[in-house]
Amino acid sequence: ICWTVEDKEQLHDHSYIKQAAARLKQGETIAFPTETVYGLGADATSSEAVKKVFEAKGRPADNPLIVHVGSRDVIEQYVRYISDKANQLIEAFWPGSLTIILPLKGGFSDNVTAGLTTVGVRMPDHPVAIALLQEAGIPVAAPSANSSGKPSPTSHTHVLQDLNGKINGVVNGGQTGVGVESTVIDCTLETPVILRPGGVTKADIEAVIGPVDVAPALVETFDSPRSPGMKYKHYAPDCPVWVVQGDTKSMCKVLTELRDDGYSVGLMVSDELASELGEQTELKLGSCEDLNQITSELYSTLRKIDELDYDIVLAESFIKEGIGEALMNRLEKAASKII
Ligand code: TXA
Ligand code: MG
Repeated sequence: ICWTVEDKEQLHDHSYIKQAAARLKQGETIAFPTETVYGLGADATSSEAVKKVFEAKGRPADNPLIVHVGSRDVIEQYVRYISDKANQLIEAFWPGSLTIILPLKGGFSDNVTAGLTTVGVRMPDHPVAIALLQEAGIPVAAPSANSSGKPSPTSHTHVLQDLNGKINGVVNGGQTGVGVESTVIDCTLETPVILRPGGVTKADIEAVIGPVDVAPALVETFDSPRSPGMKYKHYAPDCPVWVVQGDTKSMCKVLTELRDDGYSVGLMVSDELASELGEQTELKLGSCEDLNQITSELYSTLRKIDELDYDIVLAESFIKEGIGEALMNRLEKAASKII
């Protein structure tokens, strides 16, 4: 079933929110929009329901899911404690794109946490997600609603491309806003550690709780990463993507050389760089004045690459500041080369 949200007022009164919530409570899998990406939700207390999420996505069983809640009281019975810093982060950023890792007490199905002693929780900042979670009143385990190995979905069309026939329903709430997944921060340690950069930046966090650490990029042989998701290969289009650092001249040089060698080259670049190069491109990301916009276009643009027929795609490199950290983290994971 695909329910389409027509107006975002009074969502609680809409029958599809009631239907979708009832189905979640019955152990079905429902995809829904959040402000970051679409999630595939299931009752976090039911191992049968959660199993369906892993199966639909083809997700490795040792990669834990984030639990979503519509109000903070929902988590209190499942965690051992919420540290002062975690509390400050909740106050400052929920609802929002920050997943907080807390010490687990119990009550969630084991497959949600993949046997860890901690659990990641977040309250999404999206009216549809909030209405659904509040209506259901249960904690909802929800990874991104893509097939494992594909870019996370930023529209319900992406969800259906990957999961049609494998899930019980999807609520179509239009395009998501942030466009990359939430920031994940481990708050079980004295100095919290950012495990995944996302919509809430390191600077945003440090302004609230002071200095935090950032998990080092995962090395291939590291067999016990803090965040299990870090060890899996991320999405890379079939067509090689090279991130080109430097100015317009560097991009121009690489482009010319590849074309001279007979390659058909796609350009995944900002409006500004496209016009400086005097090139048209189907993979334009928007104005580089607005990195939020570029970030929100990244995953749909990566999906587009596979539909086009390039030998190689050259991607612009953006400044790793603010949301640029999350943007470049995902772009570099999709790239086969950084030059
Ligand atoms: O924005 C988001 O976070 C989206 C939307 C749907 O909320 N969800 C999402 O979920 O990105 P997923 O499953 O694709 O990514 C969850 C990440 C994984 O890298 C996982 O390893 C990590 O969070 N994670 C979950 N529980 C953890 C835990 N207890 N300790 C460390 N990392 C954890
Ligand atoms: Mg994911």
